[in-house]
Amino acid sequence: MSLNCDPRIMRASSSVSIPGDKSISHRSLILGALAIGQTRITGLLEGQDVLDTARAMVSFGAQVEKVEGGEWYVEGVGVGGFAEPVTVVDCGNSGTGVRLIMGAMATTPINVTFTGDHSLNSRPMGRVTDPLSKFGVATFGRSKGRLPMTIVGARSPIPIQYTVPVPSAQVKSALLLAGLNVPGDTIITETEKTRDHTERMLSSFGAEIKVEDYPNRRLITVSGYSELKGQNVRVPSDPSSAAFPIFASITVEGSDILVPNITLNETRAGLFTTDMQGIEVPPERAASMIDEYPILAVAAANASGETIMRGVRELRVKESDRIEAMAKGLRSNGVSVDEGEDWWIVKGNGAGSVKGGSTCQTFLDHRIAMSFLILGLSSQKYIEIDDCSPINTSFPNFIQLMRELGANLEARG
Ligand code: S3P
Repeated sequence: MSLNCDPRIMRASSSVSIPGDKSISHRSLILGALAIGQTRITGLLEGQDVLDTARAMVSFGAQVEKVEGGEWYVEGVGVGGFAEPVTVVDCGNSGTGVRLIMGAMATTPINVTFTGDHSLNSRPMGRVTDPLSKFGVATFGRSKGRLPMTIVGARSPIPIQYTVPVPSAQVKSALLLAGLNVPGDTIITETEKTRDHTERMLSSFGAEIKVEDYPNRRLITVSGYSELKGQNVRVPSDPSSAAFPIFASITVEGSDILVPNITLNETRAGLFTTDMQGIEVPPERAASMIDEYPILAVAAANASGETIMRGVRELRVKESDRIEAMAKGLRSNGVSVDEGEDWWIVKGNGAGSVKGGSTCQTFLDHRIAMSFLILGLSSQKYIEIDDCSPINTSFPNFIQLMRELGANLEARG
């Protein structure tokens, strides 16, 4: 897919309909499957990641159905009611899917083998399986805790107390879901606040859950054996997806777009408090904008001065090593980037200064693919990406939506 740039392409005041939030979509399906009765979901993201989670929930015995008009219905099996899937559970590209599902099945006496695509099978699962073992779970995976992996659900699970050592909503969520099917209270501590959709949604589904905020930590206590009841869920639009057209409109002069219905949850809104001069983004903001660093780097390349991003080690274990992937593509298009293990600096030379002209590798990572396409909108020569298929995992109508806004995206080969 290559892209030609015209600096005045975004139509004034275009209203952009962004697909459903990926995090909330996964959780709607998983909590719906763990609940008793019916869950009705509107606005579900129908990207491949979420469709893979829907298929997984069916393999655990839940009924999942899409009806005309785009609503989804889940008929759950209840906490502890997951059946053993008859075949391997393939979570595709989705770290959120696999880690949350591992937690959801871990304290039920079933054995499940998980796998994914090349990107997912190279990502670390030990961050979830190590604490799950404290519940009494056994795991057999590849070296360095990688998939494919078989999880032997705990036969007599016990509650745990655990401090999550890296800022990760996936790890926290997996442990809270596992805590649903144990006798007693599971207490999870996080020292940096991460997205809190699981806590909020567990509470709406009827779980007994308590959140205590202290200056340097958050304690979340979930009580086992509380019953979840099916709910109506309206999934808001995804701020991480909205970031792409928003930044396109910021970097393409004269653009003006409207993105309604975006979730305003403060644990996701870090990007919107980040200024567009060359600036320093502090480590404590990282968790609330962790998925937005690739597109921020694109904006930084068009800003004046250095944008310094610190405390971002986690970017190295996403769908790709996002610091390396962005640095490589930016450099090949004439942007200067410095990097260390948990920091990077993008040196911007002002709007329209990016030379372009190069093909960027996307490493099976949707956000890398979309970021370089947006970079192409403001670069002097077109920018090409090697593979646009990963975009389907989170933003299936991205190409069409950007074309409707006036972006000149040209498919080749
Ligand atoms: C997510 C948590 C984050 C984020 C991912 C979605 C979630 O991952 O990057 O896209 O829905 O819980 P980590 O938990 O690895 O930080």
